[in-house]
Amino acid sequence: MSADLSKITCIEDLRVIAKRRVPRMFYDYADSGSYTQGTYRANEEQFQHIKLRQRVAVNMEGRSTRTTMVGHEVAMPVAIAPTGLTGMQHADGEILAAKAAKDFGIPFTLSTMSICSLEDIAEHTGRHPFWFQLYMMRDRGFMERLIDRAKAANCSALQLTLDLQILGQRHKDIKNGLSTPPKPTLANLINLATKPRWCLGMLGTKRRSFGNIVGHVSGVGDMSSLSSWTADQFDPSLSWADVEWVKKRWGGKLILKGIMDEADARLAVDSGADALVVSNHGGRQLDGAPSSIEALPSIAEAVGKDIEVWMDGGIRSGQDVLKARALGAHGTLIGRSFLYGLGAFGQAGVSRALQIIQKELDITMAFCGHTQIDQVGKEILLPGTYPGVFKSTP
Ligand code: GLV
Repeated sequence: MSADLSKITCIEDLRVIAKRRVPRMFYDYADSGSYTQGTYRANEEQFQHIKLRQRVAVNMEGRSTRTTMVGHEVAMPVAIAPTGLTGMQHADGEILAAKAAKDFGIPFTLSTMSICSLEDIAEHTGRHPFWFQLYMMRDRGFMERLIDRAKAANCSALQLTLDLQILGQRHKDIKNGLSTPPKPTLANLINLATKPRWCLGMLGTKRRSFGNIVGHVSGVGDMSSLSSWTADQFDPSLSWADVEWVKKRWGGKLILKGIMDEADARLAVDSGADALVVSNHGGRQLDGAPSSIEALPSIAEAVGKDIEVWMDGGIRSGQDVLKARALGAHGTLIGRSFLYGLGAFGQAGVSRALQIIQKELDITMAFCGHTQIDQVGKEILLPGTYPGVFKSTP
């Protein structure tokens, strides 16, 4: 019997249920930032300071949130962000989220550090195109094979993450002994005993480790720990020459994720990438960096004419998507907002999260006097209430 989600009215509802249903180590993994978590909190908080201009007596008929992201038609300017260990929020999580995204008409991005593999997603979505996120690894042979597998799986864009050659410390992951699958310690067993749905789901799937990696790399030691795998395999010497290497090898649409600085944004343009994502990795890497929404306006102003500028970090509503759009983000990515839906109700929860965000976006856009998302600009914001005000604005 499928759950009645009509009383689930906002992303916070999904978060509260996910927290109850997902084992602590995986809920905490998704829902934390590095060190003091200052940047993680700022991502969400700073959206609240931005005020919208209400307009009245404007015809609100015929509204549309449809637009494009790197040339792909999307039902709203939102794509599912790549998130590690998604298949530990819910059994087969990446497959379920990809199906929800496909049904809704937005892109799904699979993380390199996913539980379900590239091939799993292709098989379970009827080879519907999806996006793949890549980390730069020391083993270039493995990267070449991964890129080839992404092509074979019908991926239509590649997101290269530039801000995680080394892993920011998230205290809870260490304290919880994060691993996949979880180790059978007493603390884990006690916690798992309170998550019967999750356990049942996991018993029904064979996907419990890093599907893109296990069986595809030889000589790898302990795969269960994200931090030790990252330290061993990710290439700390990542440079713009490597970006060029990836671009050449991939040959398709390339999105660079993790840009927080105008100088880097210009280098991203020079690299010939199709889009960049203003992102601090959900506050999980450089604690003390500004929020993404604060970093966005000056980057959009500097390079928005030369490359598609997107943003992620802190989006928990359609209002947030609208504000990002007004401040120059052509597209956005959502991570935690869809993970909460997934942890709470599986595929139906992701679909619900997307519906909630689109409805909020649609209604708020209308109250601001617009019917077409592509026409929204910073005129919908109350001057002086948003961070990093465009430099050229008097
Ligand atoms: C991986 O992308 C992480 O943030 O843990």
